[in-house]
Amino acid sequence: MTTRVLVTGGAGFIGSHYVRTLLGPAGPGDVAVTVLDKLTYAGNPANLDEVRGHPRFSFVRGDICDPVLVGGLMDRHDQVVHFAAESHVDRSIDGGAEFVRTNVVGTHTLVDTAHRAGIEVFVHISTDEVYGSIDDGSWPESHPLRPNSPYSASKASSDLVALSYHRTHGLDVRVTRCSNNYGHHHFPEKVIPLFVTNLLDGRKVPLYGDGGNVRDWLHIDDHVQGIELVRTRGRAGEVYNIGGGTELSNRELTGMLLDACGADWEGSVVHVEDRKGHDRRYSVDCTKIREELGYAPRRGFEEGLAETVRWYRDNRNWWEPLKAAADGPWASA
Ligand code: NAD
Ligand code: DAU
Repeated sequence: MTTRVLVTGGAGFIGSHYVRTLLGPAGPGDVAVTVLDKLTYAGNPANLDEVRGHPRFSFVRGDICDPVLVGGLMDRHDQVVHFAAESHVDRSIDGGAEFVRTNVVGTHTLVDTAHRAGIEVFVHISTDEVYGSIDDGSWPESHPLRPNSPYSASKASSDLVALSYHRTHGLDVRVTRCSNNYGHHHFPEKVIPLFVTNLLDGRKVPLYGDGGNVRDWLHIDDHVQGIELVRTRGRAGEVYNIGGGTELSNRELTGMLLDACGADWEGSVVHVEDRKGHDRRYSVDCTKIREELGYAPRRGFEEGLAETVRWYRDNRNWWEPLKAAADGPWASA
C-alpha cells in the first residue's frame, strides 16, 4: 500500500534532498509525496526539477501557519515530515519575528491539525542548536535545552510543542536533532556555500571572530538516511540526535575550502566582527540512533566536500541568481 507523505519545506536545502531521495531509484517505492512550501527566499522550485514529473509527486505552495490549508492537506495524508522553517541564525539576530511565526506557530498549526486528522507518524526536523553550546563532551537526547539565538530558541520551542502533542494527545511525534549539514543545493548564505561561491568568484570570505568556533559536519545524504530510519523504524515520542563525527573549527574548515578552490589565506580571508551570542561548539551524542536504528554516516568529509565544491563550480546557473537577488550582508562580503 502507498503511504502518503506530506513534506513541509520540501523546496529548501534538506527537504528537497529528502524528496529527491524518497522518489529516486534508491527510495522505498511505496510512498507518494506532497511538498507544502511557501517558497520564501530559501525555497527554490528548481530544487524539485528532478521529481516534478514523477507520478507520485505533487506540490502545494502555501504557508504552514494557515490552518485551513494545512487541515485540508492533513486529511489526505498518512504521515508528515516537517522541515519548513526559517533556518539562518544571522537573520534571526537581525529580527526574530518571522522565526517565532514560522517555527513555533507553524509547527503548532501542523501538529494540531495532524492530531485532529489522525496522522500516523509526524517527524519533526529539529537541530543540535537547541542544546546550546558545549565546550567538551557531547549532548545525549536527555540533556536540557538551553538555546541561545532567536533561531535556536524558536526551534527549541517547536520541539517542545511537537512533543507535547505526543504526551497530551498521543500523536506519534518523532524528533530528530541534527548537526551542520553540507552538500549541493545549499543556499549561499550558510558558511560553506557562501565561502565556496565567493572564492569561485575571486572574492574574499568573512570569517567571524577568532575562527575558533567548532561545528560537526554531516553530508546531507547521511542526514536523509537518518531521517528515513526515524520515519520508518523510530519510536513515538522519542528524540534522535544525528551527527557526522567531523568536528572542525571554522579556521580549519576555511583552510580546506581555500585549498579546494585554489585560494590563499592572506589574499582571501577577512576577519570580521563576531556573530552576537556566537555558540562556541556543538556536539551531539549519536549512540541512541546508532544502537537502536543502525544509523552510521557513510560519506567521508574530504570526498563529500570535494564533490560539493565541484557541484558549485559546475552549477553557477543555480546560485548566481540567488546571490544577485541577495538582500543579506553576506551577499556583498
Ligand atoms: P532552508 O532554509 O534551506 O529551507 C527551508 C524551507 O522552508 C524553504 O523551502 C522555505 O521556503 C520553507 N518555508 C519557510 N517558511 C515557511 C512557511 N511559513 N510555510 C511553508 N514553508 C516555509 O532550510 P534547511 O537548511 O533545508 O533546513 C530544513 C530544516 O532542517 C529546518 O527545520 C532546520 O531547522 C533543520 N536543520 C537544518 C540543518 C542545516 O545544517 N541546514 C541542520 C539541522 C537541522
Ligand atoms: O547545527 C545545525 C545548524 O547549522 C542548523 O540548525 C542551522 O539551520 C544551520 O544554518 C547551521 O547553523 P550555523 O549557525 O552553525 O551555520 P552557518 O553556516 O550560519 O555558520 C557556521 C559557522 O560559520 C558558525 O560558527 C558561524 C561561522 N560563519 C558563518 C558565516 C555565514 C562565519 O565565520 N562567516 C560567515 O559568513
